[in-house]
Amino acid sequence: MNIINDPQELQQHCLTWRRDGLRIGLVPTMGYLHDGHQALMRHARTLCDRLVVSIFLNPTQFGPGEDLDKYPHDPEGDKAKALACGTDLLFMPDPAAMYAANHATWIDVPDLGRHLCGARRPGHFRGVCTVVTKLFMLAQPEVAVFGRKDWQQLAILKRLVRDLNIPVDLVGHDIVREADGLALSSRNAYLTRDERAAAPAIRQGLVKLAEMVQKGERDPEVAKKFLRDEYAATLPMGTVDYIELVDPDDITPVAAVTGPVLAAVAVGMGRARLIDNILIEV
Ligand code: PAF
Repeated sequence: MNIINDPQELQQHCLTWRRDGLRIGLVPTMGYLHDGHQALMRHARTLCDRLVVSIFLNPTQFGPGEDLDKYPHDPEGDKAKALACGTDLLFMPDPAAMYAANHATWIDVPDLGRHLCGARRPGHFRGVCTVVTKLFMLAQPEVAVFGRKDWQQLAILKRLVRDLNIPVDLVGHDIVREADGLALSSRNAYLTRDERAAAPAIRQGLVKLAEMVQKGERDPEVAKKFLRDEYAATLPMGTVDYIELVDPDDITPVAAVTGPVLAAVAVGMGRARLIDNILIEV
């Protein structure tokens, strides 16, 4: 496995692979890799000839007061995990190499960022879209794999790729969970023992909400109130940031459930802000 820090070197490497007719796959990450990231890498590995994994804690997607400075990191562990998944090239740039001091170009898909995390984290998706576009320009992938835990992120990136005619296939991967249902996240490292013990209730509540909708509840307000009450009972130390039922493509709240709907939540638990979602087919 080759480890590269310099963006231009990555681009040269990947352009050479493209000229040789090799299909490049990309898995962008912010590091502190876990089984969820490794599942993305293993899946990407089956879809390409050369696998590029990026580890870059992108400062532009963090707002003031968020956890940029405290985000967990383990570069040596990450290298071993990326290697174990068949990564050919690990890209680990510094922020200064990715963003010139007078960086002035931004990519944004504001229509899909008006709700859920986009509403709570102003500028977050602009930072994500900009860095992912830069990674696409550098790594020239034909396929890139993203987790569906960040459903809104994937929906926004799909729209970006379509609207800008970027020749890359975006592949979503199912949420990887602990045995007790908690979605894997680097931020789970922030949980205290008590918070960790309670956190599976996030998923359990979503599953109950999905059952309720599948049994016929069509009013999102009733479903949302049910889940809010459920979390008040099962997650007393949690602070609900949002509970929403949205259109899975447009990420706009639905007035009534008439087709597939995404139930998405964000819950603050101590230092962690955890997100999860469930796609409900009716
Ligand atoms: O999902 C993430 O880890 C990040 O938002 C991404 C896609 C790597 C961009 O920094």
